[in-house]
Amino acid sequence: MAKRVLNVGLIGGGGGAFIVNPHQKAIHFDGTRRVVCGALHENPELAMKFAAEWPYPITGYPSYDAMIDEQKKFPLGERIDYALIVTPNFVHFDPAMKLIKAGIPVFCEKPITITAKQAMQLAAAVEKYKVPFGIAHTYLGHWSSWFSRWIITSGKLGAVRWADSYYLQGWLATRLETTGQQQASWRTDPKRAGASCCGGDIGTHAFMQLRFVTGLEVVSVRGIVETFLKGRQLDDHFTTYCALSNGGKALIRASQIAIGHKNDLGIEVNCEKGSLVWRQEDAELVTLRLPSGVERLYWRAAVPAQDDILGEVPAALLKETTIPSGHVEAFHDAFARLHREFEKDVRLYEDGQPFSCDGTRYACVHDGVKHMKFIEAAVKSAKANSRPVKM
Ligand SMILES: NC(=O)c1ccc[n+]([C@@H]2O[C@H](COP(=O)([O-])OP(=O)(O)OC[C@H]3O[C@@H](n4cnc5c(N)ncnc54)[C@H](O)[C@@H]3O)[C@@H](O)[C@H]2O)c1
Repeated sequence: MAKRVLNVGLIGGGGGAFIVNPHQKAIHFDGTRRVVCGALHENPELAMKFAAEWPYPITGYPSYDAMIDEQKKFPLGERIDYALIVTPNFVHFDPAMKLIKAGIPVFCEKPITITAKQAMQLAAAVEKYKVPFGIAHTYLGHWSSWFSRWIITSGKLGAVRWADSYYLQGWLATRLETTGQQQASWRTDPKRAGASCCGGDIGTHAFMQLRFVTGLEVVSVRGIVETFLKGRQLDDHFTTYCALSNGGKALIRASQIAIGHKNDLGIEVNCEKGSLVWRQEDAELVTLRLPSGVERLYWRAAVPAQDDILGEVPAALLKETTIPSGHVEAFHDAFARLHREFEKDVRLYEDGQPFSCDGTRYACVHDGVKHMKFIEAAVKSAKANSRPVKM
């Protein structure tokens, strides 16, 4: 029997908004989820206008309060099955808390909130109300991130010695925010972005990529948080040197003034017996480098079940493909994999069954607490001459 299609409600996403676009494509990717309603803008009139102009019919709400108040009254099957929050950082906490209390699962953009304290409050509410909660750390959704995680966490290359996890962009190399550009305006405003622009916006992705691929925790942080453009209120260049839970080290860094870099997120993990390299701009490819000089390229969906370097590759990883190798999977596929995995937990929740939401397939609320603590530790360290700050 065909599955009931899950109904998704949007919070944010009207009028030139950015990240709602890949999300709404990813929601429809498998035919098992669809957007049915939205509170798309902070201005009630514009919220209704943008809903009426949506490319397919959806119900518009003038505010997320109106949407949550009405939806929570509907029985399961008629109400939204989950809400997607794609507003600026300062408008994550309030709707997320209201949704959790209404028993509606939440898929939220990163960073989860603007302070670690708020993130911990959300984590406590998720535990109390037992509602699925996911965070859109996009790059965890790549097949190659899952493959890399298996290689490193299964110890194929020995213990991790040090890693370099980075996210470099160049789009804030001028004072774009002074032109009124929507995305730059709120990201450089501490009231709307939080304690860090570059670290919060993209350093959190580098932090999560490191934790996901290595399975290790960051235990202490030394930070240098810099603002190169005069007059800018928050950082545009963010560098940390971290101690890892296995005694290894990691450079976790980000820049928004690295001209020529677009969305250059990548990770290099140096282990005792070799190193692993991955870049999201070439997301189908994982490279292993061995001391013998051998450099082996593994392409998505083209990995042998028995490999001379890696041994037996888990069947789940071999199967985890949507299209044959060479038909390039990228950003939208990564987002879709996150929604697909979240859907599984939403369905279990609605059937009254245990669900995991444990951060192994998409980031969970506890990952959100950690990325906020990481940002606060980096900022605190930077203010104290880069003294190490414990996480
Ligand atoms: N996962 C990723 O790769 C990724 C990439 C970009 C942005 N993001 C995150 O996504 C979020 C949104 O970023 P963006 O670049 O799309 O921002 P944006 O400015 O393009 O869009 C924000 C949207 O939220 C709406 N909004 C603001 N306040 C609202 C309110 N009270 N009620 C309803 N709607 C409201 C705005 O009208 C707009 O439609 C941020 O938290 C950002 O960090 C994540």
